[in-house]
Amino acid sequence: MSTQTELQQTIQDMVDSHRGILAADESSPTIAKRFKAINLESTEEHRRAYRSLILSTPGLGEFVSGVILFEETLQQVSDDGISLPQLCVQQGIVPGIKVDKGKIPMPNAAGDEITQGLDGLALRLEKYKAQGARFAKWRNVYHISDTTPSAVAITANAEVLARYAAICQSMGIVPIVEPEVLIDGDHSLKRCSEVSELVFHALFHALHQHHVVLEHIILKPNMMISGKLYPQKATPEEVAEDTIRVLRRTVPAAVPSINFLSGGQTPEEATANLNAINCLGQQPWQLSFSYGRALQEPALKAWQGKSANAQQTQSALYKRARLNSAARTGQYMSSMESE
Ligand code: 13P
Repeated sequence: MSTQTELQQTIQDMVDSHRGILAADESSPTIAKRFKAINLESTEEHRRAYRSLILSTPGLGEFVSGVILFEETLQQVSDDGISLPQLCVQQGIVPGIKVDKGKIPMPNAAGDEITQGLDGLALRLEKYKAQGARFAKWRNVYHISDTTPSAVAITANAEVLARYAAICQSMGIVPIVEPEVLIDGDHSLKRCSEVSELVFHALFHALHQHHVVLEHIILKPNMMISGKLYPQKATPEEVAEDTIRVLRRTVPAAVPSINFLSGGQTPEEATANLNAINCLGQQPWQLSFSYGRALQEPALKAWQGKSANAQQTQSALYKRARLNSAARTGQYMSSMESE
C-alpha cells in the first residue's frame, strides 16, 4: 500500500459523523497525578489494569473511533492476554500513540514553553507502527498572560508541530496536530480567541511550508473559552460562536476533522460546549472530541483501583462517550446526565 493510501485509509477509519477519540495517553507523571486523586500508587500493573479495563468497555467502538495510547501501553496485554493495541482493533477502534517528549521552558522567551521530541522521531515511529499504531499525537502549549505567548514562541511552536506532522506522514502515520492554548489564567473569552487565531494562523502557515497534506491530518485544538480564573464563565453558546469564528478564519476546508481537547473543562461542560458548537450548523470539517479528562474522570472515580468496581467503571466511560457522541449531532441535553 502506498503511504498516501495508508494515510487515507486511517482517516477513513477514524473520521465519521458520530464518533470521536479517547485520549488515554497520560505520561507517567500525569497518570500518577490522576491516580493520586483516587489514592492509588502509579505502578506499571495499576496502569495496565486500568487501561485494560477501560479499553475493554463493551460497545466503546460505537462512540470512539481512535484511542491515543502512551508508549508503555503499546506493549502491555489485557486481562484476557491480548495486546492492548489489538484489543482496540477488536473494538473497531484505531490505536495511536503520543510521540512528543513533553515541554520545556523556551530560552529567551520568559513564560513560554516549547515541546521536544523531534530527534529520532522517524525511528521511533517505525517501532510504534510495528506495534500497531496508525496515528500519532503531539501537543504544544501556549500560556496566556500579559506578555505570552510571544511572537517567537508562536512561530517556533508552529515550526515544531509542522516538522512532526511531515515526519509522521512520510512514515504513513496520520498526525494529530495539537496546539493547546491553555485555560489557566484570568483572561477573557475574547483574549483566548485573539491568541488562538494567531496560533492557528501561524500553524497552518508552517504546515503549508512543510508540504503537510491537510487532508491527512486531524486538528486537536482548544475551544475558545474564558480563563479558569476569569470571573464570568462563557456560556456554551458564546464558546461555540467564538470557536467557530476563529476556526473558520484559520483552518482550511481540506482538514477532515477537528477533535477538541477538554483542557480542564468538567466532563459536563466539555459535552455541553461540543453540543453548542455542533448546533451552529454544517461546517467544512467534522467537529468532534479527543478528550482525556472529560471522558475518563468519572470512570477513574468509579474505579478507585478496585477490580470489584469494573462494571461501574466501564459504564461511566460508556456513558460519557455516548453523551459526547450525542453532542456531535447537537442532540445532547443536560437532562441526559441523570438518565
Ligand atoms: P484533555 O482532554 O484532558 O485536555 O486531554 C487531551 C489530551 O490528549 C491532551 O494532550
